[in-house]
Formats: sequence, structure tokens, C-alpha cells
Amino acid sequence: MVRIDAVVGGALTEVSSELLAVGLYKGEEIPQELLGAAAKVLQNGDFSGKEGETALIYAPEGLATPRLLLVSLGERASFVLEKLRRASATVAKRARALKLDEAAFVLPVPESSETRRAAEVAAEGATLGPYRFNRYKTSEDTRELETFTLVSDESAVEDVEAGAGTGAKLAAATLFARDLANEPSNTATPEYLAEKAREIAGRYGMEATVLDRAESEAEGLNGLATVGRAATNEPRFIVLGHRKGGDEAPIVLVGKAVTFDSGGISIKPAVNMGEMKYDMSGGAAVLGAMEAVGSLDLAVNLVALVPATENLPGGDAFKPGDVLKLHSGKTVEIITTDAEGRLILADALSYSRRYEPQAVIDCATLTGACHVALGDHASGLMGNDEDLIAEVRAAGEASGERAWPLPLFPEYTEQIKGDTADIKNSGGRFGGALTAGAFLKEFTDYPWAHLDIAGTAYHSKSRNAYTPKGASGTPARLLVEFLRARVREREVVQ
Ligand code: BES
Ligand code: MN
Ligand code: ZN
Repeated sequence: MVRIDAVVGGALTEVSSELLAVGLYKGEEIPQELLGAAAKVLQNGDFSGKEGETALIYAPEGLATPRLLLVSLGERASFVLEKLRRASATVAKRARALKLDEAAFVLPVPESSETRRAAEVAAEGATLGPYRFNRYKTSEDTRELETFTLVSDESAVEDVEAGAGTGAKLAAATLFARDLANEPSNTATPEYLAEKAREIAGRYGMEATVLDRAESEAEGLNGLATVGRAATNEPRFIVLGHRKGGDEAPIVLVGKAVTFDSGGISIKPAVNMGEMKYDMSGGAAVLGAMEAVGSLDLAVNLVALVPATENLPGGDAFKPGDVLKLHSGKTVEIITTDAEGRLILADALSYSRRYEPQAVIDCATLTGACHVALGDHASGLMGNDEDLIAEVRAAGEASGERAWPLPLFPEYTEQIKGDTADIKNSGGRFGGALTAGAFLKEFTDYPWAHLDIAGTAYHSKSRNAYTPKGASGTPARLLVEFLRARVREREVVQ
């Protein structure tokens, strides 16, 4: 991972980094010191200032750096922090493509924002942009950009340093989630996830408890035990606790971790089935968030629940028509074994009650229907508490991991009423994301929000400058942002 440095003070002309990048707003004058260096590029019309556009100038006149990179920030009036995240990623990726060890970026601070936040998102962009999952590429050049320096003026030193430090930790949460989710299912088994949770616990003094299949069954976690029944890699119910919030009620994060979803007996078509290694992205994001919570030492009481299993066919597999009793005591009729995520989540959600939580947020690659509804531009956001939904949505905006509200009308609950059991695990094709949400709602009796990340957890092509093809790590930063906002709010109240 790239190291983020802060350098303050001194003239731009003196920065001697292998590459110096400067963000420019469209149609605005460029800084005096760069005029000589950039004149030709600008006169030739080679840099129009379209958002994201870059121009590289070698041996720039009057500057100590051997390379000046202009990067457009678009129109000043429409500048938001997300654009800085992307610009910073663009710079870091360019430096890496040039096989440089270091790059420097003059930190732009939008008028509407604080230096600290700007440094934070710039550090995120620079860390996230160059990410590649290359551990199985035996011949690829794995050299990384080593140092990314944020250049700013004297008065900002503390803010830039603090922001860069936080941003690097937030980005590390995302990278942790990406690495886990990109890992193929022959390695990333339920036990592998449990081991990752134990490692986090060891690093930060958290408490990790892992239930195996027999223990899950004994605990009444029948959704998990049943979905995992035909798998040789046994299911795990992972509990990770971080208690730094005094006597306040905990927040519970739940992440779906189906390490491979074949669909089970209701088997999926072969085309692109390999993508179902990503069906543990919710669990990966929750563990990524816990990693950041530990490194930031956030003053919260927090429990992470990650039900982890494979969903495979076999002689012992559960079947359509089966009826099971979930952890809450409710019975469910299996319409399709491919709607397995809601079964394991239902167990985790009713297990959450024991903590008398102030809020529970689950995230899951739950329905193809959500991907169809929102594309890969936003996670679906549902829940039973408007204030909590608004908070989660705000955390999505702040983190660049957008979430958009979808309804849970009582009619969706009607749609999943069971014939032979209390409820059924599919409400049919129409409103698929919402009937799945309505299913989960049956197991909550506390403020709850649900993120359907089927469209956002991974991408078949690069989505923006800091989100490459493959696992995105979403919503690890959203979750941490939500927790930080809760901590800030409590500090204001006290
Ligand atoms: N893991 C899938 C959802 C999914 C599909 C995630 C595509 C990412 C990309 C989930 O377990 C599933 O199979 N859902 C079904 C539900 C249906 C059978 C009620 C779906 O979306 O088709
Ligand atoms: Mn499925
Ligand atoms: Zn699934």
C-alpha cells in the first residue's frame, strides 16, 4: 500500500518529487509558477480542462520536478470531494504506470470543504486507485508506487496530516474488503473468513467467537446450518466484538458471506457463475470496516456478525419445498434454494436481538433485481427507521459509496406470505429487491437498515478512477463513515 505523506510550505517550483501533479479548474488561470512550464500545452489546446483529463509535461520550465502532470478538476462551481478522490487516484495511477516510486499532488481544497476532509479523500483516492488483485499473477510486475505526497501551505500542516492519516485507514478498510472478495472460493472458505476475523481481533484487542456447523445448529441458526449442509467446507458463524463505547447500546453490522453461490439444487446457469465467488462481499466489507474501526480506535460498541457458507448442491442439500425453522422461531418454505442469502441473514438478524442494539445495518449481495433497479451506481437501501436510513444515505454520499432508498411497503410482505409455512423465501420476479428486504424485516425489532450491494460489490469493468474491475470493497467505507458520524454526534451531545 502506498504511503501518504504531507509536505507543507515552500514554493511549487522547489518540489523535487519524480512527478508533481496540479489540479486545474476548467477555464481558470493556472498558477503563476506553472505558466512557463504549461504554456505550450495550453496554447496548443492539448488540455481542454474536461474533468479527469491529464497532460504530462517533461522537464517543465522553471520547476525542480522532472515531470509536471496537469489534471483537470472540471468546473469549480460543481466541484465536490468525490471529484478530488478521483483526481488523486488518476495521479497515483499515472505515476504507477510510469513506474515511479513517488509522486506529489498539490492538494486542492474546495471552498465548500475543510482541508482535513480534502486531505482525507485525496489519500483515499491515491490508495484505492492503483489497487490490483495480482497475487496469483506469477509473472506480473508487482512494483508499487511507494510514496504519495500531499503538498499544501504552511497553515494547513496539522489538518493535512490528520486527514491523510484517516484517509489511508479508511482506504485500507476498502482494500481489505477487496482482497477478501477477490480471493477465489477455493481459498476464501468460511473458515478462511473466520481466520481473518481472528486476525483483526488479535491486532486490535477485539473479541472473536466462531461457531462451526454443529454449534450453529445448537444455537438454532438453522438457516445457516441448512444452506451449508451439502458443503464440504463447513459454514461458520463469525462474531467479532469491539467494546470501546462505554455503556452505550451496541451497533451491529451484519454481512452476508456466501463464499460461493451455485444456487444449490435450484442451480444457476453456468454463464458467469464464477462471479458468485463475490457473494461474500457483504461479509468482506463488514470485516474491512472492523479493521478500520480497530486502526482508528473508534469509541463505539460494535458487534460484527458474518454468517459464512457455501451454497452447493449435493445428496444432503436442502431442496425446494423444504420447510425450516429459523433462529427466530419463524418457519420458512423454500421456493428456491438460490434465495439462500436471506436465510442466513435472517438468523443473524434475530441473533442480533440479544445485544439490544441501538441500530443494525446489514449488507448483502442479495438480489439480481437490485442490480437491475439501480444499475451499479448505488446500493439499494431499505429499512424500518427513516432516521437511520437518512444517516446511512448520508454516510454513502460522504464516502463515495452511494446508497439509494427503496420502499418496503406492506404489500411486499404480503407477497412472501407462506402457504405451508409462515413465510416463503421468494416472492417471485417482480420487486425482487423489495420482497427480499421485506423478508429480512420480519426478523428485526430494532432500528434496522439493509444495503443490497448486488450491483455495487463488484464490477465487470473499471467503474471510475479509484474503482477497478473486480471487487469494489463497498460498503466498507460507508459503514465506517456511519460509525464516525455517530461518534461525532455523541461528542456534540455530551
Ligand atoms: N447472490 C445472489 C444475488 C446476486 C445475483 C448477486 C447476481 C450478485 C449478482 C442471490 O443469492 C440470489 O441468487 N438471488 C436470487 C433471488 C431469487 C431466486 C429470489 C436472484 O436475485 O435471482
Ligand atoms: Mn443465490
Ligand atoms: Zn447469494
